[in-house]
Amino acid sequence: MRVAVQHENSTNPMPKKRLLARLAGETEGRPPVWLMRQAGRYLPEYREVRAQAGGFLDLCYTPELAVEVTLQPIRRFGFDASILFSDILVVPHALGADLRFVEGEGPRLEPLRSRKDLERLDATRLHTHLEPVYETVRRLRRALPGEVTLIGFAGAPWTLAAYMVEGGGSRDYAVARAFARQERGLFQELIDLLTDCVIDYLDAQARAGAEALQIFDSWAGVLSPGEQRRWCLEPARRIVAALRERHPHVPVLLFPRGVGPGYATFAAESGCQALSLDTSLPMEWAAREVGHGTRLCLQGNLDPVALLGPERDMLDEAAAIVHAARGRPLIFNLGHGVLQQTAPERVGALVRYLQSLPG
Ligand code: CP3
Repeated sequence: MRVAVQHENSTNPMPKKRLLARLAGETEGRPPVWLMRQAGRYLPEYREVRAQAGGFLDLCYTPELAVEVTLQPIRRFGFDASILFSDILVVPHALGADLRFVEGEGPRLEPLRSRKDLERLDATRLHTHLEPVYETVRRLRRALPGEVTLIGFAGAPWTLAAYMVEGGGSRDYAVARAFARQERGLFQELIDLLTDCVIDYLDAQARAGAEALQIFDSWAGVLSPGEQRRWCLEPARRIVAALRERHPHVPVLLFPRGVGPGYATFAAESGCQALSLDTSLPMEWAAREVGHGTRLCLQGNLDPVALLGPERDMLDEAAAIVHAARGRPLIFNLGHGVLQQTAPERVGALVRYLQSLPG
């Protein structure tokens, strides 16, 4: 007697974790919630561990402490996902760039302005340098509650290159943008090198246990549409394609902050499973124009400043986002990171509200 053969393309079961189900296209029930920078200086328990660690980079490279600060917001608020505690700039650091975090000023790097500077970067050091990060991911996978999804992350090539060429943060990245036009071949080599490193770095995080991967292109919005395509979209396509091939079950979330209508292009062409929307985009517009008719998941996009205003207004704005995204898979998040001056109680109120929604 013959047993019925199950077709390979019969519907895959939905993943059990709420966040992974959303990333697979689920639209039923309440949206999962996590916040960018959910671990950080707004939490007194973070400030305590941070003081104990000494420097910020010591915190990133000490698995025991990095695990602790990753878990702090999970314990306190019960988010549906946990993002690895680290920083995007550990990748340039791994390549040999001199990196310092100056108190009150943000990151400082030795500016990269010549072929000699580029040739000093050494990609063979990547995995040995970043081994403590992989160890943090392995420990987190063991420590996290079963329903919480572990998100790994990396900076996108353009955003990393912008910090490297500029030598630190900037309002408009005018030096990096001019360099990209004046030294186009050299800049392309830098972007290609970073693209390969980001692929290998995220691949290693997935092997260590990351269940989803987010790519932060925080400064995509300072570029013109043509530059966005060349320096942001094309590398993103390469990264997503390589990761999907190596880890078909690990979804990729992309945050091309500030690209405005470019979000529709990223939805159509990047291959990612979710787009993280910045504060400036109306969710009504995104629900209609960004990946409509596909399973693409939308993430976002409450203004982080809403957490500093009256609680009622914050909850009304959160409700409006959930309403505007109905029918689309939504992961609730902010449009950018939690601000340092945020009261932890406000984060608590937001999470309680979202987790009280039906389903
Ligand atoms: O909870 C989390 O989101 C995980 C940890 C995380 C940090 N940085 C910790 C951090 C993540 C995902 C990042 C990403 C990151 N880092 C981005 C992309 C996201 C974004 O915000 O656009 C960028 C651009 C960076 C670079 C960076 N790191 C800057 C500009 C700064 C200085 C900010 C400041 O306010 O001083 C950092 C430092 C940093 N990264 C802190 C934290 C908690 C604060 C450092 C401290 O404790 O002193």
